[in-house]
Amino acid sequence: MTFATKRFGILTSGGDCPGLNAAIRGVCRAAYDKYGMVGVGFANGYRGLINGDYRVLRREDFWGILTRGGTILGSSREKPFKIEGSDYDVVEEKISSIKENYRDLKLDCLVVLGGNGAHSTAYKLAQEGLNVVGLPKTIDNDVQGTERCFGFHSALSIATEAIDRLHTTAQSHNRVMVIELMGHKAGWLALYAGVAGGGDVILLPEIPYNAKIIGEHLKKRLQEGKGFSIVVVAEGAMSCKEAAMDKKERKRRRENVSIGYRVAQEIKSETNMETRTTVLGYVQRGGVPSASDRALATSLGVAAADLLACGEYNRMVRLSNDRVTSVDLSVPARKTKTVPPDHYMIAAALAVGVCLGR
Ligand code: F6P
Repeated sequence: MTFATKRFGILTSGGDCPGLNAAIRGVCRAAYDKYGMVGVGFANGYRGLINGDYRVLRREDFWGILTRGGTILGSSREKPFKIEGSDYDVVEEKISSIKENYRDLKLDCLVVLGGNGAHSTAYKLAQEGLNVVGLPKTIDNDVQGTERCFGFHSALSIATEAIDRLHTTAQSHNRVMVIELMGHKAGWLALYAGVAGGGDVILLPEIPYNAKIIGEHLKKRLQEGKGFSIVVVAEGAMSCKEAAMDKKERKRRRENVSIGYRVAQEIKSETNMETRTTVLGYVQRGGVPSASDRALATSLGVAAADLLACGEYNRMVRLSNDRVTSVDLSVPARKTKTVPPDHYMIAAALAVGVCLGR
C-alpha cells in the first residue's frame, strides 16, 4: 500500500515543555512502524531548517524518550518571517533556504511541534507551498483550536505543588505569599493552579486588577482570623491603570519589576501586611511529563502520522470534545486563546470565594 508521505521533516519550536519527546515518539513510532516513513529531525526549531542542521532519525533516536523532559531535537524562538529593522533580504534568504532544504531532502511534509508563534510560521510556510502538519504544545495552553496543549497539565501540577508548599510557610509566619506563574499573555495556568492550590486571590491578564479591592479582600480575611493569604499572579496580569496605557508605555513600565513583586508592594501599601514573593519561572517548563501529557502527546503524535499518511496537509491535530481531530492551520495562526470571562473555571473560583482583583 502506498502512502502520501514517504519522508517528513520534524522540528520543535518555541518554549520547551514536558511532553515534547512523547509527541516526537508518537509521530515517529506510528510513521515508521505503521506507514514505513522516514523522519528527518531539524535541530533547534526553524533555525535548523534554515541552516540545514538535521539528522535522519533512526528508531533508537525515539525509543525510551516517552518520559524525558525537554526535546531531543532542541528548540529556539527563530521566526523566519520576522523582519528585523528593515532587512527584508534576510527574510527572503531564510525562506529560500527553507524551501531549498525541504526540496533537497526530498521531504513530503514538515511536522511542527509548537505554540502560537510556531504555528503562525507554519501557516506562512504552507502559503509558500510547503506541506505542514502542526501539534499544539505549550505550558501556556493558549493555542487557538485545541481544548488543551501538551505541557499545560505538567506545568499545572508543578505550579499547584508549589502553591501547596507556600500554604504551610504562609500560615507559619502569618504572611501574604505572592506567587508569579508563567502563561505569557493568557491566564490559564494561573487560573487552574490558583483554583487547584486554593489561592485566595488570582490575578489574570484577562481581568485587570484594582489593588484596593485586593487589599479589602485580604483585610476581610484577617478580620475573620485568617492571618495568611496566597496570591496567585499570572506573569501577564496588569492593573486597571496599566490596562489603560498604550502597549509601548506598558512594556516600558514593566521592564524592571516583575509583576509578582509589584503586586506584593501594592498589597503592602494597601494593608501593611507582611508579604513575600516567589517567581516560579522555568521550573514550570522542566522535568518529566505528567501521565496526562504523555497520553495526550502520544495520541496527537499518532494522529499527525495518520494525516501524513492520508496526505491531509496544512492542518493542526487537536483535542476537541474529548476526541483527537484536526483543524486548518489558519486557526492556531490567529491570536492566542485567552480565558473567556464566562469560563466555568472563573465561575468556580468566584463561587469558592476567590478574589479576582475587581
Ligand atoms: O511560552 C512558554 C513560556 O514559558 C511563557 O510562559 C513565558 O512567558 C515564555 O515562554 C518565556 O520565554 P523564554 O523561554 O524565551 O524566556
